[in-house]
Amino acid sequence: MDRDALLAMRRRHRAHARAGTVDQAPDVRRVPAAHYVDAERFERECERIFHRLPLTVAFSAELREPGSYRALDAAGVPVLVTRDPDGAARAFLNVCRHRGAILVDEGVGRARRFACPYHGWGYDACGALRTIVNEREFGGLDKDAHGLVPLPVSERAGLVLVTLTPGDGLDADTFLAGYDAVLEAQGLADCFVVGRQRIEGPNWKIAFDGYLDFYHLPVLHRETFGPRMPNRALYDAFGPHQRMSFPLEGADETEEPSLAALCEGVWTVFPNLSLATDPGPIFMVSQLFPGAGPGESVTHQTFFSRVAPDARIEEKARRTMAFMQRVVRDEDYRMGERIQRSLRTGALEHVLFGRNEGGGQRFHAWVDALLETEDPELPALFERRVGPEVA
Ligand code: FES
Ligand SMILES: [Fe+2]
Repeated sequence: MDRDALLAMRRRHRAHARAGTVDQAPDVRRVPAAHYVDAERFERECERIFHRLPLTVAFSAELREPGSYRALDAAGVPVLVTRDPDGAARAFLNVCRHRGAILVDEGVGRARRFACPYHGWGYDACGALRTIVNEREFGGLDKDAHGLVPLPVSERAGLVLVTLTPGDGLDADTFLAGYDAVLEAQGLADCFVVGRQRIEGPNWKIAFDGYLDFYHLPVLHRETFGPRMPNRALYDAFGPHQRMSFPLEGADETEEPSLAALCEGVWTVFPNLSLATDPGPIFMVSQLFPGAGPGESVTHQTFFSRVAPDARIEEKARRTMAFMQRVVRDEDYRMGERIQRSLRTGALEHVLFGRNEGGGQRFHAWVDALLETEDPELPALFERRVGPEVA
């Protein structure tokens, strides 16, 4: 964990608070409305962003024991992540090699073997094909050559990152651009998963814009948590990954800040992950994936506890889950669906991101850059932007 980097961010935030300022992008940015509704562009985003960058598919905390797994549809790709008997995370296309059935239903669990629900072929946690039903009658088949198709996987700061296309892909360290060293301070790997829920929403970028936006908090969320929230944000960027903080009130602190104070705010991992810290023991991490077309997305909310769950924590988790469902589904995504409808009419040529909305500006700049970048240039794009940048 890079405590010095966290302290440097905090000093920067306090300096803004003292000066009464926020980060300012050089200009107002115009994003074409078509970028949110165009089907061809949507396909390219899936291909060039979701299908070729390391994505958080699972969390270390839900794959603690050997044999534990998570199966998920990630941007249309069925993925299976397992913890193998040696403790390593593994990832595969969740597709049976016989005739292509989805091997494991979406969800989490523990299993020694995965039996295909169609004809019963069995695979182990290392993806090896172990059983062919009526093997002799089926005919000669090299089982070693018919294991599950492996996907590149790495584990950083409690995130299990998987590239959804088999092959070498971009390595996780290049992709994270040093962000994992600060994200580690959240201690996500040592937390406990206390709840999960799934929410359907609008275009993935309309939805993700909201995760990078404090500007809307007191207005859109006036019925829930908005009235006590400021509408100003500071952004610390590591490549495309951004931490958002509130400008801190008060003068310079004399005491050594606590780890919790150093970690406050919302931490996003490009292109689709958001971790919202909370002063209480429970916090939420959202994984947002594009749906079947430009107008749909799916969000998996996972609720973590910093302390071992007991009856009190479980009760608190239930209340937090109901609250976050209301906030995200009934406020954020309902607004997003209305935006989606209005943009589809062609009413606007472009939408606007203010100089105070540098987080959204940087997000769209990275989306654009990735759509234009061919595979061989991908590492250079991330390496050029290593380290903290300020909008
Ligand atoms: S498709 Fe899996 S066993 Fe036939
Ligand atoms: Fe919101």
